[in-house]
Amino acid sequence: MAYYRRQQRRERGRSVPVTIGALAALVLIVIVASLMTCSRASQPPSGTLVVGTSTDFPPFEKRFGREVRGFDMDLCAMIAKDMGREVVIRDFAFDALLPSLGSGSHGEDPLVDIVCSAMTITEAREEVADFSESYFDANQAVLASSESGFSYSSPNDLSGLVVAYQEGTTSQTWFEENVMGKVNVAEGVPFENIGISLQRLGRDYDVMIVDGPVADSFVKSRDDVIISGMIETSEQYGFAVAEGDPQGILEHADKVLAEIKENSQEKKHKFSYDELVEKWFGGGES
Ligand code: ARG
Repeated sequence: MAYYRRQQRRERGRSVPVTIGALAALVLIVIVASLMTCSRASQPPSGTLVVGTSTDFPPFEKRFGREVRGFDMDLCAMIAKDMGREVVIRDFAFDALLPSLGSGSHGEDPLVDIVCSAMTITEAREEVADFSESYFDANQAVLASSESGFSYSSPNDLSGLVVAYQEGTTSQTWFEENVMGKVNVAEGVPFENIGISLQRLGRDYDVMIVDGPVADSFVKSRDDVIISGMIETSEQYGFAVAEGDPQGILEHADKVLAEIKENSQEKKHKFSYDELVEKWFGGGES
């Protein structure tokens, strides 16, 4: 009996540290959980629509001092307003935009809610993100320095030249599918930022492949570059969101796109589609 009691006491004694251990673990969990909530406080509040873009692409998105403006930015502001949210813009390298939605193989916490960046809807991208209806049609252009007097009509014309294109874009895809291994180019050079790389055209690169509407905008604002030819790629731009659209953003995007194209008297949004085209392609801003 005595033995049994002692045994019991010892057992009870042993259970004390277990309880303290469990309590300590609980306290730790509470502390970690509250720290996690605190760090989330530095994220934009849920009343915002975090827009990811790459600001080297006038007139779709461009930096004006601290402000980012453009055709896409006006569209996304109207989509945010339709959702009762405020726009927060985050600037990325173009090829970092889809991963920033936190979808596909990257699966981390999303950094942005929507990508508004003159992004062409492609099958490959549709595997890692969902797209709105298309809002703009574009082809590719071949930019060259005015001095070169270069004229482009087919991939063979690029023979022996240094060809530059923005990393992760459909310009790169076109180069890889139509030039690489087929035409004997001196070099294909991917770059990150178009604005910076444009300064190197005529020096380090012979030609640059870029979306037509953007090439137009560059040619309008400077006389040292020309569009030496066009490439018909028939692309369509769309807004991208995380796969499955967990926030239901596309419903608003598609509604706004449809409504601004309607020819109705009642003005539901800040701009109609035609007003936007006039504002950004009509020769005024851009
Ligand atoms: N439309 C092309 C694509 O989707 C180029 C887009 C580049 N956009 C930018 N903001 N730099 O690949």
